[in-house]
Amino acid sequence: MNIAIGPNLSITDDYYLGKYATGEAVRLKLAYKNLLGGGEPGSGKSGLENVIIAQAALSVDVSLIGFDGKLVELMAWAEAMDVFVGPEMRKALHTLLWLQRVMDERYASLSARKVRKHVPSAAEPVYMAVLDELAYFTSVTGTKEERELFCTLLRDIVARGRAAGIVVLAFTQRASWDIVPTALRDLFAYRWTGRATTPGSSDVALGAGWAERGFNAMDLDPAKPGDSFLLAEGGMPRRMRVAWMSDEEIAQVASFAARLRGRAPVS
Ligand SMILES: Nc1ncnc2c1ncn2[C@@H]1O[C@H](COP(=O)(O)OP(=O)(O)OP(=O)(O)O)[C@@H](O)[C@H]1O
Ligand SMILES: [Mg+2]
Repeated sequence: MNIAIGPNLSITDDYYLGKYATGEAVRLKLAYKNLLGGGEPGSGKSGLENVIIAQAALSVDVSLIGFDGKLVELMAWAEAMDVFVGPEMRKALHTLLWLQRVMDERYASLSARKVRKHVPSAAEPVYMAVLDELAYFTSVTGTKEERELFCTLLRDIVARGRAAGIVVLAFTQRASWDIVPTALRDLFAYRWTGRATTPGSSDVALGAGWAERGFNAMDLDPAKPGDSFLLAEGGMPRRMRVAWMSDEEIAQVASFAARLRGRAPVS
């Protein structure tokens, strides 16, 4: 018998992201995956982040970590997150170093037990790191050395984190080679882009060559934010529209999740 006694979403469930142009629901499994998202300002990146974070916040086996270079983008979720990094390079680097250590410890434990993959649980959650405006940390703030360290740490976490239960979702307005270096972007299995202003940035987000093959984010409807391409399972990008949560809905889920996670006063 299976009785639902509370929110019991899991990172191993398919998260609902919206609808494909064909009308089917977009459902995506984020466990053991990473996602890179691009798109011009106003193209719907935050909309997608909110939909994913809402489900992660209600998942028993997810610990949320937000990097919010623009501060206001992920702020609504701050109470539901275990770590919230604003536009602070030092804190961003400390957080990545901590994640790297968690990853190394988990690998040591997996290897001692001769197990290949971390199994998500409430006690040993998946760490989901959501980075809004990657560019802020890779090309705007801090010193050159700090930005390089940020890129190196992030690359290591994206490259090795999956089996250790670390999921990275990174978003940027300007998908370009300097902001998302090739060595970093090629590590992301899932790619998503809202409308872009050049075929180059469309290709940086989705992967080289897709614009020429008809998946060009310049062709997306500027009047319809959330209109986007998703490259996930199946090997071909698919056109979709991201589901939309209003500010009120976000506030409701965020405060419920914060309460569940013991973060906010009940009254
Ligand atoms: N999926 C969607 N459905 C309907 N409207 C949307 C959707 N996504 C975004 N919008 C509308 O477009 C506006 C801008 O979207 P959003 O904030 O997600 O863009 P963004 O790509 O994050 O922009 P920025 O780079 O400036 O942060 C939203 O405030 C909302 O009004
Ligand atoms: Mg945004």
